[in-house]
Amino acid sequence: MERYAKERQGGSVGDIEVGVADTYSFPSIRGHSPIPVAHYGKHMEKVTLDAAFGSFDEHWSPRLAAELNGQAVKLAKLDGEFVWHHHDDADELFLVRSGRLRVEFRDDEDVTLEEGELLVVPAGVEHRPVADDGEVEVLLFEPTETKNTGNVESEETEEELERI
Ligand code: NI
Repeated sequence: MERYAKERQGGSVGDIEVGVADTYSFPSIRGHSPIPVAHYGKHMEKVTLDAAFGSFDEHWSPRLAAELNGQAVKLAKLDGEFVWHHHDDADELFLVRSGRLRVEFRDDEDVTLEEGELLVVPAGVEHRPVADDGEVEVLLFEPTETKNTGNVESEETEEELERI
């Protein structure tokens, strides 16, 4: 951790000068193209799901647990019915960690997810998550900017997610 923090401020690693940027290239070796080293200097910190889910109580208020490749791992606690909505450009993955989640569709049978089960709702498909069997802990995987209420603006809409 300390090491990464230090390198983020620039300096040198071996013979290579490192700037504050997250990306740099090794010098070319015998005519080969420089090797891009993406994400160099970003620190790695593990996320413990027990602790992460234990850090908040609000329902329908996803927290940001991690980001990769423009997508986010979001954690949420659900209770009761959510709003009907769809996401124009994003598929949405639900992975149930605890509890039972029913996902309703306008034109399809409901899908009930038990602990340890996941479902991908394709972009454009209207859906409504319902937790009517007590609290559900769910992991969502979708583009970072995808809003929880999709095309609908409601009281539950979260503009900016809190990072865990
Ligand atoms: Ni959704």
